[in-house]
Amino acid sequence: MPAGSPPTPPAPWRVSRHGRRLAPSVIATALREAAAGGAISLAAGCPAAEALPVEQTLGVIDGVLSSPGALQYTDTSGLPALRAWIAGQESHRTGRPVDVTQILVTHGSQQGLDLVCRALLDPGDTVLVDRPSYSGALQLLGLHQARVHDVPIAADPELTALTRALEEHASTRIVYVVPSFANPTGASLRIGQRARLGQLAERHGCVVVEDDPYRELGFTPRGPDPDAPVAAFSERVITLGSFSKVLSPAARTGYLCAPQSLAPLLGRLKEATDLGNSALTQLLVHAWITTPGLLDDQLARLRGIYRERRDILTAAVRAHLGDALSFTVPEGGFFLWARLTDGDDTQALLTGALREGMAFVPGAAFYARAPDTSTLRLSYAAAGPGEMAEGCARLARALDRLRAPARRGEGRR
Ligand SMILES: Cc1ncc(COP(=O)(O)O)c(C=O)c1O
Repeated sequence: MPAGSPPTPPAPWRVSRHGRRLAPSVIATALREAAAGGAISLAAGCPAAEALPVEQTLGVIDGVLSSPGALQYTDTSGLPALRAWIAGQESHRTGRPVDVTQILVTHGSQQGLDLVCRALLDPGDTVLVDRPSYSGALQLLGLHQARVHDVPIAADPELTALTRALEEHASTRIVYVVPSFANPTGASLRIGQRARLGQLAERHGCVVVEDDPYRELGFTPRGPDPDAPVAAFSERVITLGSFSKVLSPAARTGYLCAPQSLAPLLGRLKEATDLGNSALTQLLVHAWITTPGLLDDQLARLRGIYRERRDILTAAVRAHLGDALSFTVPEGGFFLWARLTDGDDTQALLTGALREGMAFVPGAAFYARAPDTSTLRLSYAAAGPGEMAEGCARLARALDRLRAPARRGEGRR
């Protein structure tokens, strides 16, 4: 220690090794900074305020509150009626019978992934993920001390890179994918890729986790993702579902659908972790999905809202940023994934963007290794239509500022 510098105060707590290593979420940090500065946020992956079913909730809440057990503990694995509804949905989607015992109601799909990691991973085990991949999954896999390798999956029609990676990492335990309108890219796996994933899981004895919260939010005339899930092609698949994006994240209700031989362990882990979800919110979700017409109307409304916002954002990006950003127009979900064509660093761009009064998520948050630092994620889900054009104008100003020193340098040469 240099002479005269103050002594480092003793750490107040002796925290665990993995606790020390857990970095703050890049998205949460961007959101906090945006909120603190009153910035326009194209960072948040949460539903539009008008997409939330407020009126519909007022219509069912009295019935929910007066249901027997609404304010009690309930079955750890989930409300039986809700599990039965989910089992019916998954049977329909996979084309084979799914038993209610295979379903576990979870606190969002994020808890589903946590329980799967607790069940299948020891520290140092290998997990393969798409490149890029959902940042919340990467963070959780880090917490479980997984060895995470990323390879292109959605962008690789034959899954050549994944096949090679599975051969190279023979003890891979999990392959994690977001099959429909993914976070962050908006891309969906084609039917051939889903079938191949199922075959690879069988051949290599690993488990595919398909995390599918956006599948209903397709904008093309085909509507929801029309393709069969990966679980239709193999029993070595765990499907994670969520009501967060289509009804309300405040319900914190999702689910997992697991092979019959694995479900009891996942149920015991759920019991040890939290004793079960709230009966009240499960009854509310059950009322939302079983009140005739409510869910269908809600989904049709959401597709309209997000299609319109996607169009507004893509038009604003083109108008204000022109060729500076390249992107593929998403056909569903919440996100526009883009790349700065000059290769500038989007973390540096974020600093300037926050100064201009807008926020986005730098793409580095979505890479397990060797990030492509010129990528970024813009969300059209939560920002108001009027805010999106202004947000893009601010982003363009921040980009001009970022590039100005380079241009001045060029001028001197
Ligand atoms: C791919 C993906 N998985 C899981 C989650 C978490 O969802 P939930 O609210 O169901 O935990 C998100 C939320 O952004 C997501 O994008």
